[in-house]
Amino acid sequence: MNSCSVMDNLATQATAIRAREIAAVANAVLAGLSDKKKSLPAWLFYDAAGSRLFEAITRLPEYYLTALEHSIFSQYAQEMISAAAGLDNNQLSVLELGAGSASKTLVLLRALISRQGHAIYLPIDVSEAALQSAKKNVHAALPAVDVQPICSEITQEKSLELPQTGRRLALYIGSSIGNFDPEDAVELLQWLNSQLQPGDALLLGTDMVKDAAPLLAAYNDLAGVTAAFNKNILARLNRELGADFALDAFEHRAVWNVAKCRMEMHLESQRQQTVRVEALDRDFEFRRGESIHTENSYKFSSEDVANMLLKSGFVLEQSWYDPDDWFGVHLARVVDSVTMPDADANEEAA
Ligand SMILES: C[S@@+](CC[C@H](N)C(=O)[O-])C[C@H]1O[C@@H](n2cnc3c(N)ncnc32)[C@H](O)[C@@H]1O
Repeated sequence: MNSCSVMDNLATQATAIRAREIAAVANAVLAGLSDKKKSLPAWLFYDAAGSRLFEAITRLPEYYLTALEHSIFSQYAQEMISAAAGLDNNQLSVLELGAGSASKTLVLLRALISRQGHAIYLPIDVSEAALQSAKKNVHAALPAVDVQPICSEITQEKSLELPQTGRRLALYIGSSIGNFDPEDAVELLQWLNSQLQPGDALLLGTDMVKDAAPLLAAYNDLAGVTAAFNKNILARLNRELGADFALDAFEHRAVWNVAKCRMEMHLESQRQQTVRVEALDRDFEFRRGESIHTENSYKFSSEDVANMLLKSGFVLEQSWYDPDDWFGVHLARVVDSVTMPDADANEEAA
């Protein structure tokens, strides 16, 4: 094959992948906006612009989550890595769901490299832009890490098979598990468990229950970055699906739902309006005050975390918190089904 036809083939493959991605966006939008209570799935936030805006959010003074999780890693990374390696002192490879730019992960990878010299790191993310910056960040800081990015959506593509790379430490940090309703969180962690082997470990980062004031501040920052992040979902639909959302006709709303123990983000229509989505050949009607529910962010008690892990086939071994118990990082182990405690019995006893 000559170099021109190789390039043609690559271009055809790239077009096919892009067409599949756009079709996934279109399907998600059709389902979400056709519902009586309109919603859009949170993974739609993360195109290149959304990933940049999320990085800006992590640097906001109000967004305590990233700073606290980073401080927990900085203090306990060695302890976490040796606990994950276990008594047999196994060599670990690391895989990470929703890796983003991997800036906090660097702290853990540094501790891992100082222990075992080199490591494989598999960041998995729906955002190609986030994966590129993860790869660049890790290469620059830790050349001994072999970065093997996987661009994939993790909630729908359960056909995704995670590569076998010896004894593994899975990371799901940044409070991303809080974006799922409790049953969906268990379903996702069950899938992760099914991809791991007994003895493999999971480090899970969760935002803990606290007063409403810091939560409301974190999702309603003064600089308006979270509002821009929320509205980027509409801008993305304009770019990718030929929609005609007027961004100033929707308002960012972040509210604390005390009954469900979650922060919610909405985009509230400021007037009666019709929005055209060209790629779907559909118009969607919005009443004044009607909202599109774009994100949930559940907050956990330590019992919630232990139960969720148990239902998913993991046994919680150890948790680390910041001094105010605002954020938690939990180490859980995959055990074989014979040693697995009964999740229902545990919940009844509690
Ligand atoms: C809240 S950010 C967390 C990023 C990073 N782990 C951190 O702690 O700062 C969520 C990350 O997960 C990715 N993501 C969100 N939904 C996803 C999905 N369904 N499949 C794969 N990646 C997803 C986003 O692109 C984003 O990088």
